[in-house]
Amino acid sequence: MPNITVTLAHAADFAGWRLATRSLAGRHAPPADITWRIATESAALPAPDPAAARFTVSRAVMELAATMVQSALPDRFALAYMLVYDHVMDMPTGQDVADRMAAAKEDVIAQTRHLRDEIREALSHHDATAPCQGRVDTLSLVPESNARFLTLQRSFAPWQLDMPDRTLRWTGHEMLREPLGQAPQTLDPTSLPPPAMPMVPDLDIDRITSLRAVALAAKTCLICPMAAHATQTVFGEGRETARMMFVGEQPGDIEDRAGRPFVGPAGQLFDRALQEAGIGRDDTYVTNTVKHFKFRRTPTRRIHEKAGPAEIAACAPWLAAERRIIRPAVVVMLGVTAASALLGRSVTISRERSRIITMEDGSDGLVTVHPSYLLRLPDEAARAREYDRFVNDLRLAAGRLGPVVT
Ligand code: URA
Repeated sequence: MPNITVTLAHAADFAGWRLATRSLAGRHAPPADITWRIATESAALPAPDPAAARFTVSRAVMELAATMVQSALPDRFALAYMLVYDHVMDMPTGQDVADRMAAAKEDVIAQTRHLRDEIREALSHHDATAPCQGRVDTLSLVPESNARFLTLQRSFAPWQLDMPDRTLRWTGHEMLREPLGQAPQTLDPTSLPPPAMPMVPDLDIDRITSLRAVALAAKTCLICPMAAHATQTVFGEGRETARMMFVGEQPGDIEDRAGRPFVGPAGQLFDRALQEAGIGRDDTYVTNTVKHFKFRRTPTRRIHEKAGPAEIAACAPWLAAERRIIRPAVVVMLGVTAASALLGRSVTISRERSRIITMEDGSDGLVTVHPSYLLRLPDEAARAREYDRFVNDLRLAAGRLGPVVT
């Protein structure tokens, strides 16, 4: 008899499923003991079980699980759990279950393609300034996973999709779901499974005019494989009207978990240097060249790996959009990755640091060292000397703005 009930927040609550699966599969709870249900009202996610053993599953398994969760099969969450459980227990998945999953995957992909074709067709006849409302009655797919696709197709203008038992709505700022006869609930886009087909090739990032919308779009980005390994996209953070922008390399281990740039050890040193240079971090915009953490796993740690040309190129449209929208007067390039990416050529820091460079958009650029470089210096005297030079570089950059950084 099943004796564990997991209540998921909504019909495509992949984040809730993943959290519960981590706990349950980690303590080897058999699939037959678990009942998966969808909350009728917004539900709090279960707390992770600290006693559960940690485990890893391959990317292919998680991708199949994510696709499964998008099918409309009533037992989709149970099937996805079974897949992970069998993997953790090193047991072969039964042939009948494997066949059902393979068929569901094929169906989800076919339905995703069909739904997107319909959306594109409908939008091609649609007056872009008019309200956009559609209806789906029969689908063997939970369409929530394509909400982001629809939002991108509409370049973040509002839309509404009606279904027999609920409505899904993008207001221009947030996603809402309204189960029939109930109050609207916010739908966290990061709770949805990654879509069965990539979305970003359909997106014209240059048409997005709000930083928040670019950040949301970046969170759905599946262009490069780093997106599948990192915990999340770490987008830039700060004032949309900032006159000063700092660009680092990529989020580190702590940033990857926190979802915020420069909050780990390098970020703390950066904060201290900003303070000494008289710059309020809240007045600036801080971002990275690459928006995902690239790492190599050892049994105990995730070791940072330098972002390569492919990752830099994949993330370039996001950084370009941040610069286009914020239009900072001064861009400070922290380290060689940011400097090479923004200047479009190879850069030797020692040769180019500490001087103002006119960027192609007319803003002032300044190359300096990356704060991690300072942390790595083994000699205390060298560290103090280099730190002072770093603070001086920040002062030089701030000096381009006049006495107040706003
Ligand atoms: N290093 C970076 O380049 N960026 C971060 O956000 C953290 C460390």
